[in-house]
Amino acid sequence: MKSKIKKAIFPVAGLGTRFLPATKSIPKEMLPLVDRPLVQYAVDEAREAGIDSFLFVSALGKSAIPDYFDKHPNLEAKLHANGSDELLTKLQNSNIPSGSTAYVRQGEPLGLGHAVGCARNFVDNDEYFAVLLPDDVIKAKPGCLKQMVDAWEDTQASIVGTMEVARDQVGNYGILDLESAQGRLAKARGMVEKPAPDESPSNHAIIGRYILSPHVMQLISTTKPGVGNEIQLTDAINAEAASGRGVYGYQFDGHRYDCGSMAGFLKATVDFGLDRPELKDELLDFLRETLAEFDKVKS
Ligand code: UTP
Repeated sequence: MKSKIKKAIFPVAGLGTRFLPATKSIPKEMLPLVDRPLVQYAVDEAREAGIDSFLFVSALGKSAIPDYFDKHPNLEAKLHANGSDELLTKLQNSNIPSGSTAYVRQGEPLGLGHAVGCARNFVDNDEYFAVLLPDDVIKAKPGCLKQMVDAWEDTQASIVGTMEVARDQVGNYGILDLESAQGRLAKARGMVEKPAPDESPSNHAIIGRYILSPHVMQLISTTKPGVGNEIQLTDAINAEAASGRGVYGYQFDGHRYDCGSMAGFLKATVDFGLDRPELKDELLDFLRETLAEFDKVKS
């Protein structure tokens, strides 16, 4: 097996129906959180973790994504000529160097497992790879994937990112069945997709970050449609755990926003906005005034 994780897969072929009608013509992954599209946060997190090859599993209507990561020579020349160095740096930081990205198409949205399987020719059968879902935006230092890569150095086995959720929330997630736990790392017997609270094996929910063994890629090809008649990534990871090769959950240190939902997206916008010194005071004043207004109306 190769000793480093250098490749990441970004499944961006979903329909994004929760953001209709905006997603009629804008891919969900291109919706901006403050001034960067969601997909940029995932790419930056992957870069911080040492990833140097980026594969997007894309679909019809998503061509804004490859355009976004391209170099824009005219715009760069203009900003350079204007002396807009700060903007130029921002712009250049959003480029991915030529030859480091690849795009494959998922002809139909047949599920996350199917989307990852579309990238089968991208990973060698002796290398682990990362998968990042860009609609999960994670605020963490170091970044969530970096934390997981560090844990992988010890386990050398598949790892899924996890967080603890309230019992009444387990039905919204894939949940780990834990065999043993040590610190942030837990060995999993397997995982269950969206269990009822009283049947849930734990409250460790899977988030959109994975480090997967090449075997998982092979297992996807034999995975039958599961929940929602979709080919589920969790079913392939379950098969990996059943094979005895070992699957771990890593409880990352940080905060995850579900930017695939409107509420999560709005919360992230406020939090990331407050992080920006140039926006903080104005935004705080606005939030305080708005809350005071709300309280007045209620009383
Ligand atoms: P979601 O479950 O959020 O689905 O997918 P979605 O289609 O993007 O959004 P909604 O539910 O209709 O609003 C989770 C991740 O898996 C990818 C999505 O792009 C997203 O990153 N995905 C899902 C695919 O790439 N292909 C699929 O067939 C399904």
